[in-house]
Amino acid sequence: MIVVIDGPAGSGKSSTARAVAHELNIQYLDSGALYRAVTYLFLKSEQSLPAFFESLYSAKLSFEFGNEFQVNLNGEDITSAIRDPKVSAQVSTVAAMPKVREYINDLMNNAVQQDVYIADGRDLGTAVFPNADCKFFMIADLETRAKRRHQELSLKGLQMSYSEVFAEIKQRDRLDSTREKDPLKKADDAIVVDSSTFSFDEQVQYIVSRIKETITIE
Ligand code: CDP
Repeated sequence: MIVVIDGPAGSGKSSTARAVAHELNIQYLDSGALYRAVTYLFLKSEQSLPAFFESLYSAKLSFEFGNEFQVNLNGEDITSAIRDPKVSAQVSTVAAMPKVREYINDLMNNAVQQDVYIADGRDLGTAVFPNADCKFFMIADLETRAKRRHQELSLKGLQMSYSEVFAEIKQRDRLDSTREKDPLKKADDAIVVDSSTFSFDEQVQYIVSRIKETITIE
């Protein structure tokens, strides 16, 4: 059984999906973190495509949801490393490669066979899980999203000015929504949640109640 939340960068999908997973006692899958992990590998391959694909196909990429979504690559915990601004700057370019999308989609499809999941991303409701049991599309205006992301990065001690964060998110939105393969797009049957009009707790409760109306979780 799968619930999906799609939406642009900084719209609050990840923190909301994580909180919903804890509340409903289900698994959480952060598809963006997997694209970030692959981008980390791309940067390690010094952006050489043959070296990158060779290391990708022999990589051991695994993830686990405990308190947070943890990503492990070839035995290394890269949960923090994938949030580096260098990864953020490249991730949309790497994620636009059809072979990368196939690789991540296989990984996700295999994982969700086993359990009840809430997953967040860009194309989950449209391309990866078109038959998801419940779909949400989370939005917020660009300024709100950039402010949020700037605050998050400052709390982690990462030095990026507000205008740099704003420009990075704007560029990523553009690349994600205009790429040829599975662009960021609302599924026709997704419920829109505007996170700039809700408090965090309100939006979590709203999503939890819509899920409970639609599916039964034991
Ligand atoms: O957390 P944030 O909103 O910054 O983005 P993310 O969820 O970590 O995703 C990072 C990037 O991965 C996105 O900007 C997309 O380029 C890509 N992505 C994707 O193409 N498809 C997905 N299902 C999820 C992420």
